[in-house]
Amino acid sequence: MRIVVLTGAGISAESGVPTFRDADGLWEGHRIEDVATPEAYEAQPTAVQRFYDDRRKSLAGVEPNPAHVALARLEEVLGEDLFLVTQNIDDLHERGGSQQVAHMHGELLKAWCRSCDGRVPWTGELADFPPCPRCGVSELRPDVVWFGEIPYGMDEIQRRLLRADLFVSVGTSGAVYPAAGFVQLAASCGAKTLELNLEPSEGTHFFSEARHGRAGDLVPVWVDEVLRSYGF
Ligand code: APR
Ligand code: ZN
Repeated sequence: MRIVVLTGAGISAESGVPTFRDADGLWEGHRIEDVATPEAYEAQPTAVQRFYDDRRKSLAGVEPNPAHVALARLEEVLGEDLFLVTQNIDDLHERGGSQQVAHMHGELLKAWCRSCDGRVPWTGELADFPPCPRCGVSELRPDVVWFGEIPYGMDEIQRRLLRADLFVSVGTSGAVYPAAGFVQLAASCGAKTLELNLEPSEGTHFFSEARHGRAGDLVPVWVDEVLRSYGF
């Protein structure tokens, strides 16, 4: 069985990473368009860098939860037959044990040099515009995909969706495309589709099954079901 799992901010919520679309519609007190667009970066580079510096720093204080760990367990058994794609820029899937993670919206722990186009691991700050370790030019920005930019790895993601037997969406509001459209693509190619989310997402009616609750409860239960079908 080929499975594609898409995760969003909801899977990291129980780890203490705030989601984007909370009741107040703000991301950590900021309007998303003030921090997550190329225009915001052009207008206020230091403020945008500080915002991501703070997010990067806060990763040190959070831990993966049972949902991340369960998906790593699933990968151990399914190997290449599991494709995990996340909209999250945190590293909690990796720290939960997942080996292969497609970060379609980039990663907080990487910096992208606009001068040499290199990508480098980054754990420190960027707001003081340090030189790129590869080319020496001070043009590093967070390696995250902002609104108006093209998500990473779309060719591979699409290929995996086209041949999936099961598509599972975990902890995402279904408000942001292209990820919000994955369910329809997978379903149109014959995959079963399952939503695991705290509440019905915007696209909940596109799923053949939906379970609502906390990811830390729902994901381990679902993974156990799959592993049992494999004889574990
Ligand atoms: N368990 C499961 N789901 C949860 C939990 C939880 N403990 N807590 C919250 N959720 C659900 C919420 O109900 C909501 O539907 O997770 C979803 C989170 O939605 P968003 O905050 O919109 O996050 P996401 O869907 O990942 O956002 C997509 O938008 O701003 C951009 O680039 C950013 O990757 C992000 C994209
Ligand atoms: Zn460079």
